[in-house]
Amino acid sequence: MCLLIPFFMPISDMKPISLVLLKLLFLGLSFVAGDDHRFSYSGFSNTNLTLDGTASVTPNGLLELTNGTILGKGHAIYPTPLHFHNSSDGTVQSFSFLFVFAIISLYNDLSSNGMAMFIAPSKNFTTAMPVQFLGLLNSQNNGNQTNHIFAVELDTFKNMEFQDINDNHIGIDINTLHSMQSHDAGFYHDENGTFQGLGLDSQEAMQVWVDYHREKTQINVTMAPLGMAKPTRPTVSANSDLSTVLTDVAYIGFTAAMGKINTRHYVLGWSFGMNRPAPAINVTMLPKLPPLPHPKDRRRLLALEIVLPLATAALILSVAAVVSLLVRRNLRYAELRDDWEVEFGPHRFSYKDLFRATQGFDDRNLLGAGGFGRVYRGVLPRNKLMVAVKRVSHDSRQGMKEFIAEIVSIGRLQNPNLVQLLGYCRRHGELLLVYDYMPNGSLDKYLYGEVDNTLRWDQRFCIIRGIASALIYLHEEWEKVVVHRDIKASNVLLDDELNGRLGDFGLARLYDHGVEHETTHVVGTIGYLAPELARTGKATPLSDVFAFGIFILEVTCGQRPIMQRTQDKQVMLVDWVLEHVQQGSLADVIDTRLNGRYNVGEAYLMLKLGLLCSHPFASARPSMQQVIQYLDGHIEPPELTAHQSFQALSLMQNEGFDSYIMAYPSSTTIGTVSSISGGR
Ligand SMILES: Nc1ncnc2c1ncn2[C@@H]1O[C@H](COP(=O)(O)OP(=O)(O)O)[C@@H](O)[C@H]1O
Ligand SMILES: *[C@@H]1O[C@H](CO)[C@@H](O)[C@H](O)[C@H]1NC(C)=O
Ligand SMILES: *[C@@H]1O[C@H](CO)[C@@H](O)[C@H](O)[C@H]1NC(C)=O
Ligand SMILES: *[C@@H]1O[C@H](CO)[C@@H](O)[C@H](O)[C@H]1NC(C)=O
Repeated sequence: MCLLIPFFMPISDMKPISLVLLKLLFLGLSFVAGDDHRFSYSGFSNTNLTLDGTASVTPNGLLELTNGTILGKGHAIYPTPLHFHNSSDGTVQSFSFLFVFAIISLYNDLSSNGMAMFIAPSKNFTTAMPVQFLGLLNSQNNGNQTNHIFAVELDTFKNMEFQDINDNHIGIDINTLHSMQSHDAGFYHDENGTFQGLGLDSQEAMQVWVDYHREKTQINVTMAPLGMAKPTRPTVSANSDLSTVLTDVAYIGFTAAMGKINTRHYVLGWSFGMNRPAPAINVTMLPKLPPLPHPKDRRRLLALEIVLPLATAALILSVAAVVSLLVRRNLRYAELRDDWEVEFGPHRFSYKDLFRATQGFDDRNLLGAGGFGRVYRGVLPRNKLMVAVKRVSHDSRQGMKEFIAEIVSIGRLQNPNLVQLLGYCRRHGELLLVYDYMPNGSLDKYLYGEVDNTLRWDQRFCIIRGIASALIYLHEEWEKVVVHRDIKASNVLLDDELNGRLGDFGLARLYDHGVEHETTHVVGTIGYLAPELARTGKATPLSDVFAFGIFILEVTCGQRPIMQRTQDKQVMLVDWVLEHVQQGSLADVIDTRLNGRYNVGEAYLMLKLGLLCSHPFASARPSMQQVIQYLDGHIEPPELTAHQSFQALSLMQNEGFDSYIMAYPSSTTIGTVSSISGGR
């Protein structure tokens, strides 16, 4: 319905310089270009608008600026540029713009972004951004004076960055989307002056007038429902001299942009007048808006296009969260498990249980640290059993099968004077051994004053008796010969009745009865090492007897196996006791903390036995079976002769044993668990 054929059609693509030339040419011909230019479209069939982006003219003549494409933008521009500056004084002439628009959101209450009419120096909006920039500007040029853009926005989204007043407003924009003036969409009633709001995205066609008055330099924007006469009071107005804004030659048109919500922006009719009111639009000729989707369909669309993606995203996120949680949990509780372990299944603990039992191996549960690792107290989550968990680091899988087999067979050892090994767990780089918990800790703490109350003589006797019976069990009563290899006060633990229990089987070796003992690394603790063990590395039940002898002396005398006399003078406990035996002053070596409260006969028996067991000649030592008989009083132990003592003493010194011992600090365990994890 083109009422007036535009003047400048052929020059629309020319450069500004030639435009100026042409203008002069036209002036010369007294052809006042654009000074009274006008047009009016009721529908856009057979019009020649320049369209880009998502803009199109529908078959029934609707100008559709956005078509539902996410982040789409569309422009419809009057094909020829217009002269805005007055030819006599260069000020921007009065103009009047009228259009009928409708915004249809496919969801009742959700609309994304709005649309705008504009006057701009160019038809090129390729760098303009969609969404809140309305396809008009971009984040870089928004606010620049050089934009030379005047626009009236019909905005259905409240953008904080542009200080929008709400999500349903009309704004006057000069070079920026931050409106210089804006107002709720709606109109003032002519009769009583009350304001009547209108919803921009109400899906109803509405009229908008944009008028610029040259003398008043005033912009008025007026809105009204379709079919209503133009209200006298504008909805929003602003005072601004567009002479400083608009280029002389400029384009007029519409822009609209979408975010993610399916919205259509339509222009149904458009008229324009330069230096005159915009011609009326023939309302009856306006194209029909497309039928609205049924509310039900809209709800379904909403579900499909909004709720579904959101729900899907939420589902994916939560699945991802659960997966990452599981992965992290798995890593946290990761264990090493080999096929051969199936047979040891019942003895295998899960790391998760041990982790929980010890509250994540919390320092508060730390019982102590030995030569091989830290020991933690724990309560098994399943049966509430109190356990001690020993973490031993190992870095080799070699020999692990044999070691685990050993551990498991040790687990089958059951004796009231052994700390029960309950099972194990393997992880990358570490092995965890689970033992019965011994509430009263290790014996050395009582002997050397870390615990206030020392032990009475009868308690000490009972502990020695207990360890002796444990050793008989290991050496003789079980199906295999078990050599403990690390008998010492700190490996003797006390249960709730203060019974002594031999612990720490990490170092124990198993020998089949009758099989020749193999030579391996020296394992044990300095001060408890039998001379032949230090020389040959061969651990035998008799080297256990030697260590047990030292242990007896330790408990009876309350002295460490290597006594620190002065800064650099160390004396072997055995030698010290021997000296007193020779001098006949045995009472001087009994622990002074007993305050003389001990059974003299028993105490002397202990000293005798201690020396006998720690005899430098393995062949001179009694077996554990004999030791028990001495302890129980069934047999009298042989008298220690001065000759024997001297022999022992000189032997030790001649062997250079002292210097060997002195090279190490006391209570250090030689040999490490690596001899177990890797060395077999
Ligand atoms: N089964 C247990 N019950 C209670 N405490 C234990 C147990 N095993 C070890 N401990 C404590 O942990 C400390 C370190 O143990 P361990 O590593 O065996 O020491 P070491 O290597 O010096 O023999 C011990 O001194 C003891 O106090
Ligand atoms: C529309 O305008 C373009 C250039 O702007 C021109 O090439 C074309 O012939 C015009 N078409 C009509 C139908 O006016
Ligand atoms: C919307 O317009 C764009 C650009 O012209 C086009 O690629 C797209 O297919 C259109 N989408 C619909 C739904 O018509
Ligand atoms: C040993 O443990 C029991 C039980 O925990 C406790 O009652 C007793 O006092 C402890 N004895 C010593 C000497 O600490």
